[in-house]
Amino acid sequence: MQAPLGIVATLCAALLLGCNGGIPDARADVESGRAIYAKECAQCHGINGDGAGAASLGLGVVPPDLVGLTGRNDGVFPREFVRRFVLGLLEKEDPDAAMPEFGTVGLQHVYPDGGAGAEVLHTDIAALLDYLETIQQ
Ligand code: HEC
Repeated sequence: MQAPLGIVATLCAALLLGCNGGIPDARADVESGRAIYAKECAQCHGINGDGAGAASLGLGVVPPDLVGLTGRNDGVFPREFVRRFVLGLLEKEDPDAAMPEFGTVGLQHVYPDGGAGAEVLHTDIAALLDYLETIQQ
């Protein structure tokens, strides 16, 4: 029974690669989104987005997982909510919340020399959202 499983897995992998290969731009966005996530978000939300990254240990509030955003939103990825939350455009329940407002502080770990202007930020946040959408469970 192991051979058929292996074949199925290989076919799935081939299909996935085929899909990504067909839309190179989208793939590039997801890859840069993954890099941005690793630098700006993973320390709190976990390297895989499952919450409780290392930096969360000293926080009063545990950062929620980000792989269940779709699950908590009736099966629809809440792209606009996440965009606004990350940029700090939403009113916060807790004004002392630990999460940085990236619209104000910028992507400091991606651009340690302060390079990101508003347009870059917009493109990078779009890539980040593309990536987050791919990790939903
Ligand atoms: C310093 C730790 C920290 C960093 C860095 C951080 N977050 Fe958060 N995040 C939190 C905490 C804590 C919360 C819980 C709500 C709050 O405190 O505002 C949260 C909440 C969220 C939420 C709301 C989730 C929900 O289900 O309501 C989203 C979306 C989110 N973060 C995305 C991100 C993204 C994307 C990044 C990287 C660009 C990031 N966060 C970086 C700590 C962090």
